[in-house]
Amino acid sequence: MRAPLLVVLWVLLGFEALGGLLIFFMRLAAGSTPGETLHIVLGAVLTLVYAIYQWQHWNRTAPFRSRMDYALGLIAALSMAITLGTGIALTLPWWAVRIAQKSADPVAYSTVVSAAHNIMSMLVLTFVGAHLAAVLMRDSAAKRR
Ligand code: HEM
Ligand code: HEM
Repeated sequence: MRAPLLVVLWVLLGFEALGGLLIFFMRLAAGSTPGETLHIVLGAVLTLVYAIYQWQHWNRTAPFRSRMDYALGLIAALSMAITLGTGIALTLPWWAVRIAQKSADPVAYSTVVSAAHNIMSMLVLTFVGAHLAAVLMRDSAAKRR
């Protein structure tokens, strides 16, 4: 649980969740998206770290078994892939406006991609938590036996 790569993954996931929540509320309250650049840069790092982590994690836990911890891990990984994928897709229009045109105009994000990113980001947090809970419950049940 204290493996360095896992700790880095938790910290990045925490920053992305808080940063995303800030963007979500501030867009509704003030029409602004503070911390957007940081959210994108950390998001790119998270994508790399997560890819390495998932690769190693799968090599350790394969093959798939029909058990609660595996099923929840799979849903967590699918939600993570869609969140990171839509995050990168949202970065394309951002890049065109902020970096290529060096403009401060509002970025015309696709509503569908933005909604998918928003909803899947909540599912990632839910299912990573559920996956961990299932692993811990399995461990405590094994100890009691
Ligand atoms: C699991 C990690 C992530 C979480 C929990 C997360 C969460 C969020 C949330 C809640 C929003 C606000 C959505 C809205 O108000 O519509 C947001 C916006 C955004 N995210 Fe992420 N995000 C993550 C990863 C990423 C990644 C990897 C990238 C790109 C590299 C990215 C790029 C963006 C962009 C460009 C926006 C602004 C566009 C928009 O709001 O539609 N995100 N994120
Ligand atoms: C978002 C993706 C995922 C994250 C963040 C994650 C994280 C974790 C963590 C922190 C643990 C407990 C510590 C450890 O044993 O390393 C764990 C255990 C486990 N995970 Fe995942 N996991 C993910 C996806 C998956 C997937 C896709 C599977 C398989 C389908 C899976 C199967 C397992 C199993 C079987 C264990 C128990 C391993 C053992 O006790 O040796 N996980 N996971």
